[in-house]
Amino acid sequence: MAGNWKMCKTPGETRSFLEKFIPAVAGVSDCDIVICPPFVDLPAAVEAARNTNVAIGGQNLHWESKDGAFTGEISGRMLKEAGAQWVIIGHSERRQYFHETDELVYKRTVAALAAGLKPIVCVGEMLKERESGQTHWVLERQFNHGIAKLAPEQFAQIVIAYEPVWAIGTGRTATPDIAADAHRFIRGQAVEKFGSGDVRILYGGSVKPDNIKGLMAQEEIDGVLVGGASLDPDSFATICFASSSSASH
Ligand code: 13P
Repeated sequence: MAGNWKMCKTPGETRSFLEKFIPAVAGVSDCDIVICPPFVDLPAAVEAARNTNVAIGGQNLHWESKDGAFTGEISGRMLKEAGAQWVIIGHSERRQYFHETDELVYKRTVAALAAGLKPIVCVGEMLKERESGQTHWVLERQFNHGIAKLAPEQFAQIVIAYEPVWAIGTGRTATPDIAADAHRFIRGQAVEKFGSGDVRILYGGSVKPDNIKGLMAQEEIDGVLVGGASLDPDSFATICFASSSSASH
């Protein structure tokens, strides 16, 4: 269960959130809980989440491992030393607004793994692509030009997030069946390329406390990547409990 805070919250707001959120999810077991705040919040988040069941991640990283002349960028080893364990790669907002390509997604994933970070690699189609029946074609392209170039031992370490762009921040969640169909297709790509569909696939796009149960009831959906609803400690805690076998909320 991963929260992507996007460009929200200051270090002080991060501390306030975690003061409430960490005790609220202390009873969640059998699932990873990850919060991905903006870079400047990482020290506050890592400090607050130390020795808890909440892990911290970045929202992006540069594909070069070594220090260098890349103004405004952050490397994997910086994230790792700051205490991040995870990193989101290829989010649709980065693809749309910052010219992220499938090739860059691949390069960033390799850099993340080299730094010892666990990548959450995002794929997903735009509204016009879904409406024109191109969803599978887009997912296949994103998979083949990005993820499929990984070595099998690299692929074994990633998590994939299926985020249909039309469902992000719109309140228009994909139905559990639509999400499961896309997950099945992506898993099929993994079987075709790597001979194994044993990969965690998260769904993202307007996940809320009131739709989480229906989504998690789908066998194909292994978890969720949450934007807006991860900004409130109570709502994200409710979402985290939806996949926990040890407690109810
Ligand atoms: P929302 O949950 O706000 O739709 O955002 C989803 C998302 O983009 C998570 O990465």
